Amino acid sequence: MAVRVRTVRDLEEFGAAIGAIGHYFGWQPTPEDAERFSALLPFERMLAVLDNGRIVAGAGAYPLELTLPAGPVPCAGVTVVGVLPSHRRRGLLRRMMESQLDDVRERGEPLAALWASEETIYGRFGYGLATLALHVEAKRKQLRIRPELPREGTLRLIDQDEAIRALPRVYERVRKRTPGFLSRSRDWWETRRLGDRPENRRGAGPLVRALVERDGSPVGYALYRIAQEGATFAEWTKTVRVVEVLGVDDAAHRDVWRFLLEIDWTDTLRTDQMPVDDALPLLVDRVNELGLRIYDGLWVRPVDVPAALAARGTAGDGRVTVEVTADPQFPDNVGTWTLEAGGRVRRSSRRPDVRLDVQGLGSALLGGFTFAQLARGGRAEEGARGGVARADALFRVDRAPWCPEIF
Ligand SMILES: CC(C)(COP(=O)(O)OP(=O)(O)OC[C@H]1O[C@@H](n2cnc3c(N)ncnc32)[C@H](O)[C@@H]1OP(=O)(O)O)[C@@H](O)C(=O)NCCC(=O)NCCS
Repeated sequence: MAVRVRTVRDLEEFGAAIGAIGHYFGWQPTPEDAERFSALLPFERMLAVLDNGRIVAGAGAYPLELTLPAGPVPCAGVTVVGVLPSHRRRGLLRRMMESQLDDVRERGEPLAALWASEETIYGRFGYGLATLALHVEAKRKQLRIRPELPREGTLRLIDQDEAIRALPRVYERVRKRTPGFLSRSRDWWETRRLGDRPENRRGAGPLVRALVERDGSPVGYALYRIAQEGATFAEWTKTVRVVEVLGVDDAAHRDVWRFLLEIDWTDTLRTDQMPVDDALPLLVDRVNELGLRIYDGLWVRPVDVPAALAARGTAGDGRVTVEVTADPQFPDNVGTWTLEAGGRVRRSSRRPDVRLDVQGLGSALLGGFTFAQLARGGRAEEGARGGVARADALFRVDRAPWCPEIF
């Protein structure tokens, strides 16, 4: 088989390359779809596999920033990965993943991150599970925000023009300080988060934008759609499909949730992008009615280990020494690294506090898993007495990392 991996050259190739994943959504991208998509994903970040000149697979990487505990850092947002079923299990994914990671490294992005269609695919390429996502399938009528908790903001439904001005202000405040968040350009807001093309509604109604304000400033929002099922009045069930909920502080978060749970004549509320330490279970008096489940969230791949550690920073004074025992692609990531307060990183001959492979480091980087958890799960080992506790003290985070959007 004469197969070649290279970046796409024009819009037609771009459309065919994203069409490989499109196959699995029953979606054949039109030239307009390809054009819209390519505004976010440049041609030079979109790989295609050609078999005798025909595109049979694709994989892209958005140029983004990912927030680590010390702040945002450049990150390749891996996306639209697909191999047509006619070409599966012949190593095409492997070729694309390796070529993409080489490119990420050349560009100086210390990290790559993705959402996995299946949890079994990406560990072999060095991606570690870095965040968990809390899913809610709530029986809305049984739920309310505890009435003794005060309502502090006012809420309005707003149009698209106002949303494009107000929502990024809320998002940016949260993004800068919340590990797991990704940067969003104006195009991203317009096409992705606030984009409301009928084909993306999947049986639901139009996107509703609800804004919470305090003292005239935006402090929180919800994006949602209402879906109705059932043929007759007696059979109707209504679901609030929440796309995103965000508040700059606890009061704003509470105000948004109170609004969502009070939407009359709806039965169920669903969302699948919440942090695992969200306050919601404590804000209601019937936690079991929330229908909580936990899924895998963002997968993170340290591409340049010293740069990733430096960008990650420490939670206090002192130093932590980590031995990276294996990396499936970049041998120079392997070795012992000491990270000091202020983000200084150097190769070290010290005895490591912890040992783990690059995938394990990906799981630790955002603070989604402690080294103690990783050790309990067989994904890290203590290197020196008390090392795991020392490393955990310096990697401590105040809140669980989370990523509010699948990309
Ligand atoms: C998942 C997918 C991209 C794999 O592509 P592929 O070209 O068949 O994969 P490769 O032949 O390169 O396989 C590389 C390795 O991954 C493994 N692998 C591939 N798909 C896997 C899966 N779904 N689950 C577990 N392992 C998988 C292969 O067994 C192989 O393992 P090895 O390195 O131990 O030999 C392809 O099946 C696909 O397009 N699936 C549907 C869309 C999808 O899920 N895309 C991913 C979006 S995040």
